[in-house]
Amino acid sequence: MAQFGDSKVEEVRARADIIEIIGSHVRLRRAGRNFVGLCPFHNEKTPSFSVNAERGFFHCFGCGVGGSAFDFIMRVEGLTFGEALRSLAKKYGVTLPEHDVSGPAAGEREAMLKASEVAAEFFAHVLWNTTDGAMARDYLKSRGISVETARAFMLGYAPSRPASLAKALEKRGLREAGVKVGLVKKDGNDAHDMFRARVMFPIRDAQGRPIAFGGRVLDARLPKYINSPESPLYSKARTLYGLFEARQAISSSASSGKDRAILVEGYFDVIALSQAGFKEAVAGCGTALTVEQLRVLSRYTKNVIACFDGDAAGRKASMRALEIFLLAGLLGRGIFIPTGFDPDTFIRERGAAAFAELIEKSALLVDYFLSEQAVEARGSIAERARVAQRVAEVLKLVGDPFQFDLLARKAADLLSIGEEVLRKEARGAGRSAAPSRFVRETRANASP
Ligand code: UTP
Ligand code: MN
Repeated sequence: MAQFGDSKVEEVRARADIIEIIGSHVRLRRAGRNFVGLCPFHNEKTPSFSVNAERGFFHCFGCGVGGSAFDFIMRVEGLTFGEALRSLAKKYGVTLPEHDVSGPAAGEREAMLKASEVAAEFFAHVLWNTTDGAMARDYLKSRGISVETARAFMLGYAPSRPASLAKALEKRGLREAGVKVGLVKKDGNDAHDMFRARVMFPIRDAQGRPIAFGGRVLDARLPKYINSPESPLYSKARTLYGLFEARQAISSSASSGKDRAILVEGYFDVIALSQAGFKEAVAGCGTALTVEQLRVLSRYTKNVIACFDGDAAGRKASMRALEIFLLAGLLGRGIFIPTGFDPDTFIRERGAAAFAELIEKSALLVDYFLSEQAVEARGSIAERARVAQRVAEVLKLVGDPFQFDLLARKAADLLSIGEEVLRKEARGAGRSAAPSRFVRETRANASP
């Protein structure tokens, strides 16, 4: 990660003892040059998990996960790269710079986390214990959300008075921090709350710490939601709402895990699904889906099922999503929610079993794409050539050689186009010499 300088990352990597690190989670035994054990990321009875100490990486031949000591810690403990680096640096006595030039000093960051935590607790207190919160309690009830669910998601209510939270933060010396994370706005000498008279949804990091908020009005006023701005704690493009709550349910390493995630659009969708037993639901944070969000999710599972609207716009959205999935190294599945519903209202009206059925019937996004192309591929030569070109463009985004091979074969077959030409077009000079600008930029921004 550029923020610490590559030399620091290398120093930690060099000092970290991967056998010791993995050995504290997995019983390893030596087998020739490697160490082997039972993979912690999927259920198995015979060891296919192997660690190479010399080269400093692990690989599971059963489920395909692998990587460095950093990757292992990130996966097992659900940390970001930066957090894994700090943790290993501490363990192996490498001093990291206190802060980088662009980010906040450690103390400032702590204060911002504290301010967000205080805010989440304040909003929850108002929701459950005050008369101000009564309307919000009724509102949540009217939307079928139980007290237990609301508590699990740390829901709260921001009172309508102009400076309730501002005062609470002020008392703790956290006003500045509150301003930095967008909870409070300074107004000359005064400060006022950014969220007022709204049901509050804390957005938490992978360790469960609130880093931002979404707030919904109780009626039909606009804007329906307001969200925290970007801050040193919070990057929308990298954050998934509900990930902390869903982590155990998603992860293939937990025995209760389903090894899948369900990707939805809204806060209420996540919460309603979770309450209906689909605890593996997550949502983007009021942004279009990003490659980074999917990369984060892919640390927990490779099986991501995205929900789309059943109308034409939803179909279109699913095709945009396909490219994002491929760029993140995932194939991605999709389901289409009948028009007029979102996952929340669908579950409430039709029940969990009906939703489970939709999930059962989910198909690979690339299959939706190919079947749509197949319809057009029955037209004129010119049309068929255009289809072939479009398919090649999509295939260009597939990084994994095996996935590429299977998809190229399938596409050529389904669309009756020459497989060799298709492969060449997708893999030939185009890809290696000059990937599209979009692909290049996305790769450059990729987390390590
Ligand atoms: P929706 O309008 O579908 O809302 O926006 P919703 O989540 O279904 O909420 P309810 O059921 O009407 O209460 C989907 C998501 O888009 C973001 C929020 O993250 C929301 O959950 N959004 C929507 C905003 O950020 N601002 C808005 O004004 C509207
Ligand atoms: Mn909704």
